[in-house]
Amino acid sequence: MSILKDIQTRNSIPFLEEPAPSEEEMIEVYKAALRAPDHAWLRPWRYLEVRGEGRHKLSKAFLDAAKKDSDVLTEELKQKLEDAPFRAPMIIVLVADVKEHPKVPKVEQLLSLGASAQNILLAIDSLGYGAVWRTGKMAFNPYVVDALKLPENSEIIGYLYVGTPSKQGKSIPELNIDDFLTRIS
Ligand SMILES: Cc1cc2nc3c(=O)[nH]c(=O)nc-3n(C[C@H](O)[C@H](O)[C@H](O)COP(=O)(O)O)c2cc1C
Repeated sequence: MSILKDIQTRNSIPFLEEPAPSEEEMIEVYKAALRAPDHAWLRPWRYLEVRGEGRHKLSKAFLDAAKKDSDVLTEELKQKLEDAPFRAPMIIVLVADVKEHPKVPKVEQLLSLGASAQNILLAIDSLGYGAVWRTGKMAFNPYVVDALKLPENSEIIGYLYVGTPSKQGKSIPELNIDDFLTRIS
């Protein structure tokens, strides 16, 4: 399939099982991630790759953060947070390493990390695996940054859940380009 067709047909897959991409395959994926556009080459991208038993550590970080975040942690929410990382065999935590720069505000650095996340989704898709980008209460949450012992300037912009599709994703909607495009000539 051509690169263009790959991009045009990428689909998020929330139904994921083993196996996740191998470490060798993930090297290729990260090479694609690191080609995201990046104003002043600040390299604001960090990735935490969580696999297998490591997911228990992510569960614990979610629980620790939720305990600090709210006085009342219901059993239901506790269970939901504990189970969350087990929805896929691998999770990539998208961490922005935000730097002070006179010309590059934080928002541009977060956008660059978002662009690298899309490169990751496309690369994973092209290798025949599936992935979905999720956020929720555990994203943009300083307590999770704390619980994962990340540097203070870090911002978690989301989580990519990755694995082998166990079911198809939603069908890809037909969108009308004219609804989104204005041509000025
Ligand atoms: C920044 C961002 C955050 C998202 N957070 C969630 C989420 O928490 N839960 C969810 O089900 N989908 C979330 N999505 C949407 C899915 O990743 C996906 O894009 C959506 O299901 C549409 O599928 P498609 O990408 O195949 O069109 C998020 C997407 C983005 C870009």
